[in-house]
Amino acid sequence: MTGTPQKQKLWRDVIIFDGLDTLPEPMAVVVEGDRIDRVLPMSEWDEATAADCEEMARGGVMTPGLVDCHTHLVFGGSRADEFEQRLEGASYEEIARAGGGILSTVNATRAASEAELFDAARPRLEALMRDGVTTVEIKSGYGLTVADELKMLRVARRLGEALPVRVVTTLLGAHALPPEFKDDSDGYIDLVCEEMIPAAASEALADAVDVFCEKIAFSVAQCERVFAAAKAHGLPIKAHAEQLSNLGGSAAAARFGALSADHIEFLDEAGVAALREAGSVAVLLPGAFHTLRETQLPPIEALRAAGVPMAIATDANPGSSPIFNPTLMLNFACTLFRLTPREALAGMTSHGARALGLHEQVLHEQGLGRVKEGAPADLCLWDVDTPAALAYAIQSGRLRQRVFAGSVTQAFQGEQRHD
Ligand code: NIG
Ligand code: FE
Repeated sequence: MTGTPQKQKLWRDVIIFDGLDTLPEPMAVVVEGDRIDRVLPMSEWDEATAADCEEMARGGVMTPGLVDCHTHLVFGGSRADEFEQRLEGASYEEIARAGGGILSTVNATRAASEAELFDAARPRLEALMRDGVTTVEIKSGYGLTVADELKMLRVARRLGEALPVRVVTTLLGAHALPPEFKDDSDGYIDLVCEEMIPAAASEALADAVDVFCEKIAFSVAQCERVFAAAKAHGLPIKAHAEQLSNLGGSAAAARFGALSADHIEFLDEAGVAALREAGSVAVLLPGAFHTLRETQLPPIEALRAAGVPMAIATDANPGSSPIFNPTLMLNFACTLFRLTPREALAGMTSHGARALGLHEQVLHEQGLGRVKEGAPADLCLWDVDTPAALAYAIQSGRLRQRVFAGSVTQAFQGEQRHD
């Protein structure tokens, strides 16, 4: 080893939400390199060892860095016009059937260069980071050709290389039927299975494969073909399912050992049981529920009773959830879905990580999304007095420090705010 070894970093007198629960007393947290070395009660803190550490902060609430496990951050264009149409009474489904919706974003995304997509996505990602995100999943799904889907995935990968944030990519080729395949939905699924998935896998551009299982998108049988192709290429699967109707997409995904089923407002008891048996995560997206003014609530009580882990994500996208504010989703999860603040916070930390398979990857075997010894040092220090306050108040600017892989990457201190 050459050079001076870096001092350990110390946060003291912090109230910790550890990814599952709030710890009962003020704690000290010591970080060494990119890992959490010690988490101990202040009552056990030996003042003599403080001299060996660089003190980063005192007080505040510490949580794991937020994990936004479902986003569509890379896209071209805007759909503000559809927002106005919906205010005048058109439904999301009607707009999609008339060739708008996802397909309007497909046109704009195809027309954009990789550099343009990167420049458009970067401020969206930075907005998530300013609100505490240290891990984000980004889906393709607005290209719908092999070249355009790979283009989107490359942009997502580049974002993760350019910014201090973990980016997990998901191929969502089966998001909508592109106009070229208007009367040949099965032909498009052939393209997804035989060309898109193999290409994304061989270039290591996708960490998982997702589908949209819905009447306006793809049938259960078609989604099952996509799942089988993903599995054949060693990729885990996820599904947008039971968002607008109950087709059984979640249960189908569960049969393929899905990491998660997402949206799931229309999920029934059998679907809940299938998720439980498969160990899949239920990803709740209250931003889309809010934006589309849905009235069908996801089966929270049944999921809770079955012990299915519930994750919360922004679903950041130009149509159903133009929302780039993860802590607002904590509030929505409580006010709209009646989660407890503890459940909502677990949903954006440890359960979000689980929905991405990061709780068991070799690199993160000690558990991303947790504040515990041995875990990656992705942390947020918040200017609030209790973890529940993050869900209770709708307020920006509460993130005092964001720690990514052991380094403070953004520090917000009153006048010295630099964002
Ligand atoms: O997660 N449900 C389908 N896909 C996205 C919406 C994408 C869009 O409207 O552009 C979702 O809600
Ligand atoms: Fe989505």
